[in-house]
Amino acid sequence: MNSITCSIGGLTADELTDLWRAVGWGEVNGIQAETGVKNSVNAVAKDDGRTIGCARLVTDGGYQVLLADVMVHPDYQRRGIGTALVKKLLEYLEQKRLPGQWYFISLMSNKGKENFYKQLGFIERPNDDSAGMGAGMIMYIGRE
Ligand SMILES: CC(C)(COP(=O)(O)OP(=O)(O)OC[C@H]1O[C@@H](n2cnc3c(N)ncnc32)[C@H](O)[C@@H]1OP(=O)(O)O)[C@@H](O)C(=O)NCCC(=O)NCCS
Repeated sequence: MNSITCSIGGLTADELTDLWRAVGWGEVNGIQAETGVKNSVNAVAKDDGRTIGCARLVTDGGYQVLLADVMVHPDYQRRGIGTALVKKLLEYLEQKRLPGQWYFISLMSNKGKENFYKQLGFIERPNDDSAGMGAGMIMYIGRE
């Protein structure tokens, strides 16, 4: 990761939508991307000023937190950048947390990416050990 920096803040809507395309996820509406980056806490990886990865926290301001849009440009994957981005956001929450408080962080892993999240400490669900943990579920509205 020599020339690569990883910090909180500074993600633009264009950088977000470029990364969506680069990892093959398709298109995000520009206005929604603009609103989204303004209302989330964003970790950004840069190589010589060029954004090559991001990860976002979306929160209710209380205890519910969504980890979303964890993306590293294909030219830079498997070099520890995705791990560094998620760790930055976890550190951010740990620093923000007051005594007696805790956060519930949820995410939807892409198929085959579960180990990436497991090595960061996330619990896969469903699993045999934790009673009550069913599958995560999603719904799109308006996406074809
Ligand atoms: C998933 C992603 C963010 C991982 O970022 P990365 O910088 O490549 O990952 P790291 O180098 O930090 O990986 C650390 C460890 O996580 C695990 N890991 C990373 N990518 C993995 C993959 N594709 N499959 C399985 N395990 C993976 C490995 O244990 C890896 O360690 P290793 O390289 O020593 O084997 C990146 O591959 C990506 O952007 N993929 C496309 C978008 C995507 O699917 N994002 C996840 C959305 S849920």
